[in-house]
Amino acid sequence: MRNKIIAGNWKMNKDLSETKGLLNDLKTKVGAGLGGVQVIVCPPFTSLALAAELLKGSTIKLGAQNMYFEDEGAFTGEVSPKMLKSAGCEYVILGHSERRQIFGETNELINKKVKKALASGLLPIVCVGETLDEREKNITDQVVTSQVKGALREISSADMENIIIAYEPVWAIGTGKNATPQQAEDVHRLIRKLIGQMYNWTVAEKLIIQYGGSVKPDNAAELLKQSNIDGALVGGACLKADSFTQIIQSANVV
Ligand code: 13P
Repeated sequence: MRNKIIAGNWKMNKDLSETKGLLNDLKTKVGAGLGGVQVIVCPPFTSLALAAELLKGSTIKLGAQNMYFEDEGAFTGEVSPKMLKSAGCEYVILGHSERRQIFGETNELINKKVKKALASGLLPIVCVGETLDEREKNITDQVVTSQVKGALREISSADMENIIIAYEPVWAIGTGKNATPQQAEDVHRLIRKLIGQMYNWTVAEKLIIQYGGSVKPDNAAELLKQSNIDGALVGGACLKADSFTQIIQSANVV
């Protein structure tokens, strides 16, 4: 049985004082009642060090939303894994569809980042997912398969223990239109099967596969009940302690 992992992707939201407000609120609401659920928050870069300070002594873990694949150098505007580690991060989201679509990230670049994150001791949350057009063309399976294979190229089975995959159908992100539990489960099963073929069944069975895309308090439980859905990557609903806590609680009961 895999434990559930609920991560909040704050995206480009929350300045320092808002970060403090949200995290203090979240700590109070979540309290010690996480059960077997692992909670991760991923604030913007500017809030990471403050978040690490505020989360001291809490079981909530810290993640970043992106990174570059070098430790330092002339890469204006980029942030390195070394910097993320020193700011207190344990996790890093890589290959989010907004990075792919708005900033042109390719599977090849994401693969470099995944390798570097692992080598740096960060745990990558690797995002995959099809667009509406791809779903309507019935090529979801091919798209997700090539994203998974591309992002995980030359990753060893030992390293797979340190990777989370997040399935986030692009058409469900920020639209209020979540995938149905069955639609999500189908793709999650496909991903697990693929990992079984690429590695072996032990690796596949251990893999945490999160669902992301309009996860809200009123649909989280149904999604999390599916046997291949091991958690959620939450956008909009993680920006308020109330709704994020409700999602965490629904993971605690399934
Ligand atoms: P929403 O929950 O706002 O749809 O965002 C999902 C997401 O992109 C998480 O990474």
